[in-house]
Amino acid sequence: MQQAGNPAPECILLAGVGGGLGRALVGEVARRYPRAQLLTISRANSAAPVDAQNHLTLSLSDPAATPAVKDWLGARTLPHWVIVCNGVLHWQNHRPEKNVQQCTDEALLQSLSINVLSHVHLAQAVAPLLQRRSPFTWASLSAKVGSIEDNQLGGWYSYRMSKAALNMLVRNLSIEWGRKLDCCRVVAVHPGTTDTALSKPFQQNIPASKLYTPAQSADRIVSVLEQLSDADSGKLLFWDGTQIPW
Ligand SMILES: NC(=O)c1ccc[n+]([C@@H]2O[C@H](COP(=O)([O-])OP(=O)(O)OC[C@H]3O[C@@H](n4cnc5c(N)ncnc54)[C@H](OP(=O)(O)O)[C@@H]3O)[C@@H](O)[C@H]2O)c1
Repeated sequence: MQQAGNPAPECILLAGVGGGLGRALVGEVARRYPRAQLLTISRANSAAPVDAQNHLTLSLSDPAATPAVKDWLGARTLPHWVIVCNGVLHWQNHRPEKNVQQCTDEALLQSLSINVLSHVHLAQAVAPLLQRRSPFTWASLSAKVGSIEDNQLGGWYSYRMSKAALNMLVRNLSIEWGRKLDCCRVVAVHPGTTDTALSKPFQQNIPASKLYTPAQSADRIVSVLEQLSDADSGKLLFWDGTQIPW
């Protein structure tokens, strides 16, 4: 039987809390679920107000992250929700490509490392801990521009390709974990254009009404997760919960 709505989480794992959306999500889940335990991961000691006892400092894009996170999580409460914020669009010496000649192996590999492998390594750490009867929700922050069907503009090769790969990871996890668990929702979420370091260089053509604050987007993302049903698992969702084609 299909279940609508998601049980309130007693323990939430937020990965990538050093970023704009990650920090805002820490505030939002603390506000909505003041009694829930919050576990956090970031490359640095977090700027967000997190519990140092339940914060792990490492880079999820590093393959050594998988055993380290597994050991760390194994000594804690199994999270009911995992939200993975890790992602990159530009960095020093790299701007999104306008044409295929601008693509470099280095930029594509770096994009895959952060946009995909961070999520893979965390999934590998979590997978052995999952329990059939414990309801489980996984959300990877992805992007609408990773949708192949939605792509009418082209460009942004490494970001689009790596987010499309992330979307496939999410779809696969939804199938694998859906077979294993009684209640499992695995989704990719597009947060909408949000005023963070990631979008900063590309905000000039965005109308003010379509550039959201991190707090607004965090509120919407958590609302999407609260309202998930079994039928949503394996989908790429817009910030209002509607489906974006893969
Ligand atoms: N902002 C937008 O308009 C927008 C739109 C669509 C999708 N998104 C997606 O939303 C997510 C959060 O983005 P944001 O706007 O909050 O961007 P941000 O402020 O630039 O945050 C970057 C995120 O990526 C992680 N990260 C960066 N470099 C990393 C590395 N070398 N290894 C591992 N992790 C690394 C950071 O984790 P640490 O905690 O370790 O620093 C942080 O969670 C991303 O996946 C992004 O693609 C954003």
